[in-house]
Amino acid sequence: MRIAVVFDTLYEGWEHPEHERQMAKEVAAWHDDEPEMEYQIADALRERGHEVFLLGVRDDLHHLTHALGEIAPDLVFNCAEAFHRNPALEYLVAGMLEAEGHRYTGSPPLSLLVSRNKAMSKKVLAYHGIRVPGFATYRPGEPFRIPKRLHFPLIVKPLQSDASAGIAHASVVQDPAALADRVTLVHERFHQPAIAEEFIEGRELYVSLIGNGDALDLLPLTEMVFDKEKTRPEERIATQYAKWDEEYRARRGIRNVFARPLARSVRERIDAICRTAFRVLWLRDYARMDVRLAADGEVWFLEANANPFISYGHDMANAAEKAGLDYYAFIQRLVDEAVERNERA
Ligand SMILES: Nc1ncnc2c1ncn2[C@@H]1O[C@H](COP(=O)(O)OP(=O)(O)O)[C@@H](O)[C@H]1O
Ligand SMILES: [Mg+2]
Repeated sequence: MRIAVVFDTLYEGWEHPEHERQMAKEVAAWHDDEPEMEYQIADALRERGHEVFLLGVRDDLHHLTHALGEIAPDLVFNCAEAFHRNPALEYLVAGMLEAEGHRYTGSPPLSLLVSRNKAMSKKVLAYHGIRVPGFATYRPGEPFRIPKRLHFPLIVKPLQSDASAGIAHASVVQDPAALADRVTLVHERFHQPAIAEEFIEGRELYVSLIGNGDALDLLPLTEMVFDKEKTRPEERIATQYAKWDEEYRARRGIRNVFARPLARSVRERIDAICRTAFRVLWLRDYARMDVRLAADGEVWFLEANANPFISYGHDMANAAEKAGLDYYAFIQRLVDEAVERNERA
């Protein structure tokens, strides 16, 4: 197939040949440093015999439309996580693909928008009986109020970011003054509303799904584990450092592993919740859910990632590998899901 890999990039003005060179460089140096996700995907697609075009998006939708018109791909592999460096505008790329009639992998604009908004998605999930933490949202300039039903400790996050941007130990706040400070920090640093959620103490589980409709596969669960001697309970969260800084992870005893044993009833509940979430958020082809399992066995839904990180050696690719799909087969499977979905439509 002719596949255009569409991704957000910081390299201004780069066309396919420049990305091709960069990709070759990064793939050759894989053992020292992971290549960008889009290059890993392109490499896998090429390995599978596809004709691959690299199309980086920055802030010019016209360029995207024009370039896709020239390439005329059979399928777009959409791994754009932002537009104009703004993750909240991620849906625009899918919107454009939709408008131009391209077939593409992954979720439609609606699900990208709703699942990225940590408040809106929780409302939809709660309607369907999924347990989500209580929360309040704070838009810049609005009067600061704390709903009576909300109980400290709270965790304050940017409403529409991902990859743990803006999440540190200081995000967990114990009183109104600290809440106000952290909300202000989110407004100033991230230029978007803040969400303050009730803090759920518990295990941190990641659930990857591939498929559509009734043919939805739940991959083996992964888990972020913390050294209990080196952390207090409210420090056992996926902060930016905990997720991305290898040295910090080693020092703090933080690892991502296949989930430690779970009671069968818990497993079944997680399975049912994640399938429901996939359906009611109108997700497509693949997604990764973040849930927390409290000591009393209660499963709390944190968020659905409609456009999850799928680099080699990270949670979703590891889960796929455990399910018998090596990285190339995993990426091919996402293509197959999109193609079959389009054929059914
Ligand atoms: N309500 C919560 N209770 C406990 N921990 C939370 C809560 N919300 C977020 N966290 C912690 O912060 C991490 C990042 O939050 P998440 O909502 O998944 O944002 P992101 O989109 O950046 O991944 C979670 O993986 C979890 O460790
Ligand atoms: Mg998350």
